[in-house]
Amino acid sequence: MRRERDSIMKKYKMPECNIFLIGFMGAGKSTIARTLNREYGMKVVEMDQIIVERNGMEISDIFAEKGEEFFRSEETRLLEDICGMKNVVVSCGGGAAMRAANVEIMKKGGVIVLLSATPETVLGRVRHRTNRPLLEGKKNVEDISKLMEERRERYEAAADVVVPTDDRTVNEIVADIAQRVSAFKGGR
Ligand code: S3P
Repeated sequence: MRRERDSIMKKYKMPECNIFLIGFMGAGKSTIARTLNREYGMKVVEMDQIIVERNGMEISDIFAEKGEEFFRSEETRLLEDICGMKNVVVSCGGGAAMRAANVEIMKKGGVIVLLSATPETVLGRVRHRTNRPLLEGKKNVEDISKLMEERRERYEAAADVVVPTDDRTVNEIVADIAQRVSAFKGGR
């Protein structure tokens, strides 16, 4: 098993750059960021976690007590801080790519990789989680599809590369990212 994974990672080199993982809640951004750290030594920036640490509050409490706009401004401030860093993989909050200013910062700072997933896949991944205020009371395919549709256009416009995650292993997704990011960087 280990040997098989090693061969995938050796086969697909990753160019030195920052990668911003964007996409809907449950698209797999955190898992993929951790794998990019393990396989390519990229430093992980988990946006939600840093915002929680900076504010000393959980995401759901920030939303409830300070409001969504405050949270969104925290995301922008953090992205500005990240931009000066090198060889990092950023696991963005699902809403981060909805602000044009954020996308501009990410474009300047690295390659934007959109992880895509169907509403069914997302539901399967978030069903038992309670840390996403925007999905409370909405953990069903219909509501997830609706929110996803509202976001689709901006996600796709922001993305430099799109990587599907449905029915694929983490290794397959990471190998695909390496190939697509290399092709994107090579074509620039
Ligand atoms: C959000 C996604 C969450 C978190 C917050 C808002 C969104 O992050 O930032 O709950 O608007 O899509 P994940 O995508 O990591 O779940």
